[in-house]
Amino acid sequence: MRKPFSASIIILLFPFFIYAQSIVGKGKAVDPYHYTIQKDKTFSKGAVACAHPIASKVGAAILKKGGNAIDAAIATQLALAVVYPGAGNIGGGGFMVGRLKDGKTFSLDYRETAPAKASRDMYLDDKGNAQSNLSQYGHLASGVPGTISGLFAGMKYAKLPFKTLIQPAIDLAEKGFTLTKAEAAKFNNAQNDFKKYNTVVPVFIKEGGWKEGDTVVQKDLATTLKRIRDKGAAGFYEGETAKLIAAEMQRGKGLITVDDLKNYQTKERKPIEFDYKGYTIVSMPPPSSGGVLLWQMLKMVEKRPLASYGFETVKSVQLMTEAERRAYADRAEHLGDPDFWKVPLKEITSDTYLTKRMADYDSTKAGNSSGIKAGVVESTETTHISIIDQWGNMASVTTTLNGNFGSKTVVGGAGFFLNNEMDDFSSKPGVPNMYGAVGGEANAIAPGKRMLSSMAPTIVLKNSKPFMVVGTPGGTTIPTSVFQTIVDIIDFKMEPADAVDKPKFHHQWLPDELVVEKGFPENIIDELKKMGYTIKGYNVPGYEVVIGRVELIKVTDGKLEASADIRGDDTVAGF
Ligand code: GLY
Repeated sequence: MRKPFSASIIILLFPFFIYAQSIVGKGKAVDPYHYTIQKDKTFSKGAVACAHPIASKVGAAILKKGGNAIDAAIATQLALAVVYPGAGNIGGGGFMVGRLKDGKTFSLDYRETAPAKASRDMYLDDKGNAQSNLSQYGHLASGVPGTISGLFAGMKYAKLPFKTLIQPAIDLAEKGFTLTKAEAAKFNNAQNDFKKYNTVVPVFIKEGGWKEGDTVVQKDLATTLKRIRDKGAAGFYEGETAKLIAAEMQRGKGLITVDDLKNYQTKERKPIEFDYKGYTIVSMPPPSSGGVLLWQMLKMVEKRPLASYGFETVKSVQLMTEAERRAYADRAEHLGDPDFWKVPLKEITSDTYLTKRMADYDSTKAGNSSGIKAGVVESTETTHISIIDQWGNMASVTTTLNGNFGSKTVVGGAGFFLNNEMDDFSSKPGVPNMYGAVGGEANAIAPGKRMLSSMAPTIVLKNSKPFMVVGTPGGTTIPTSVFQTIVDIIDFKMEPADAVDKPKFHHQWLPDELVVEKGFPENIIDELKKMGYTIKGYNVPGYEVVIGRVELIKVTDGKLEASADIRGDDTVAGF
């Protein structure tokens, strides 16, 4: 069990005190100038865990005000778009998996889509080489944003008016909030990119650099949020905001048009649901690979005595690595947007198939990835929100701009970053991308198509009752991090904080290497090397691998044990 962690950010700015008190509602203050990071806490009624303390507190304040988990998820996402602009967004997309107190489960797919003018070979040069700079940076990298559509689609499960849910974000953008040390550093690291990929100077550029405690005010973003408050989804997809996005695209030679925006639609999909050792796992279906990979990996290890192997032993790590290897091999071959590609979901998740998949498993040596198609690799900047309310409604949301600050382009006059999600497509099916991995035909670019994701917002039930909400950012490491967290809790009976914080490992078939986090036991690394594994990511000077930033809420004896990842400013809040 980790030690209690509490980093305080106390910036005494008394003139702002009155405003701070008014956020969310009188007497229910979220103070954007004085806040603390709380890693673990047990709450009795409602809990939120997410990547930024202010956003967690906004979510908790909505729960206290009588909102349900979906209300809080909407308000938290909007707050993250202001205080955590590297991944929180209105210019990106995401997925929400929910479970209502009456037992209904649902999933909302508000993943970005390729613009109508996108084409399969749009990132290839005249020699046929993939130009990853174009799919990763600037205007051409952006898919049509889905977030605002998704939040409005979620309103059918919410209780409070949208105006109430968006107001904290408007206040935070209009009147400002203070930066944490980590956020200031992220802004500073991206200054050159902000200068390079913008046609209008964004507020995030600061000569001399940002420091902890600086106040960030985003007037243009506040105006955009007010248009959304007053006009609904049309305040983003039509009218002034749509015009500003289209104008930005024209200035920077991007593809998104006002018609692309008007045509964007969220899809409500049947969630992935399966049993693991008597627990029901509910997760995101394609176009995310997250839920399918989780299903495959958990089922591949289910019949083996993991609990007796123990946490982070050679036996458990090797078994789970081989399950990861096999699941990721299926990803590129079979997974893509189900509206464009026939995903053989039944076949690749059947018990017979998964038993066969492990038939060549050898517990004494490393498997072999050669000759098998592999998955694409996504960037790691995404963010997750876990919420449970006083009635037992559960919301698990993962949302992303893809890279840190997405395409790095801020829509001139509208104040928000656009995603670089087009890079999650396979620019050139069958050929290794910049990470040495290859993608398949299933994930080739086509107009209106959703790019394959790894996001795995997940809910776990026990005896049909709420047990856990879990999820994480981390690109292709998302399914493996959620997989390991579930096994840590269910098989190894670990405390939530340990399951969240202990070093993780990741294998994605190709490249054929096992990536481990700092702190992973050296003796296990040595044993695995002897078995033939190539181990990466530890002891590399200046290069510290981070796998996951898990947000977890577990129900224990009717109480909500919330745990936010030690790897960032992540914070829990509740009551
Ligand atoms: N861009 C990260 C993901 O969708 O998996």
